[in-house]
Amino acid sequence: MKHWHLENVAWDRFDPGKVEAAHVPLVKAAAMVERNGRDYSLYLGRVFADDPAFRDAADYWADEEVQHGDALGRWAMLADPSWDYQAAFRRYRAGYTLPLDAESSIRGSRTGELIARCMVETGTSSYYTALGEATQEPVLKVICKNIAADEYRHFKLFYDHMKRYLARENIGVLRRLRIALGRIGESEDDELAFAYHCGNEPETEEYQHARCIAAYMSQAIAFYRFRHVERGTGMVLKAVGLPPRGRLSDLSARAAWQLVQWRRRRFEQRLAA
Ligand SMILES: [Fe+2]
Ligand SMILES: [Fe+2]
Repeated sequence: MKHWHLENVAWDRFDPGKVEAAHVPLVKAAAMVERNGRDYSLYLGRVFADDPAFRDAADYWADEEVQHGDALGRWAMLADPSWDYQAAFRRYRAGYTLPLDAESSIRGSRTGELIARCMVETGTSSYYTALGEATQEPVLKVICKNIAADEYRHFKLFYDHMKRYLARENIGVLRRLRIALGRIGESEDDELAFAYHCGNEPETEEYQHARCIAAYMSQAIAFYRFRHVERGTGMVLKAVGLPPRGRLSDLSARAAWQLVQWRRRRFEQRLAA
């Protein structure tokens, strides 16, 4: 059972006068990455081939991710009626593929795979919380609130399964931390940047990773307030087995906030250049 349904969103409350133009390209890009969740569940199905309980959970998880894409896609078409979500998604699928043929996790272990999933859900949960608070448009606000709640539940889902595998695989904290930070760094890879390209740039324009990730990130980071980074830092620490509250968490949150602001300035400079 999904926790909310696309058809129950009050789409007729959409208020074009309250759409922030800068939000639309980001919503378009996010819609495609979310819609692609089904592919990731195929990969998870192979990696966890002998774990039917997890495979069922991953299938259900993918249904929710696809709904996130469809909700954001529908909203973006209200905000920009000239935009075609399905066509943009087809273009994205044609140019971007996940490593679906892997038989074991690309993270080296199942624990590592689940920690990486926790990082993605940490990122999405804080991102949609921040975007939902930043927008004044009532429908986007509701969609973001629903999605952020799903993403937090996804974090808990992957975290619980991770604990089960950790008891078996016994991977040290430093190794877990390295996997977590590695996955966070990958948010600047092609997955989002190419989605930004397909959602916002004409097919005649050549895809350029540096330009697209700078355009996406410089805008996206602008939504974040310290409290979002602080909460996200707590989730990262929890996932790797460190205390999510206390002195370490406070210091990490402040360092993460500085890092995020520095990245934003770098992306803005790159974009200006
Ligand atoms: Fe999602
Ligand atoms: Fe999620």
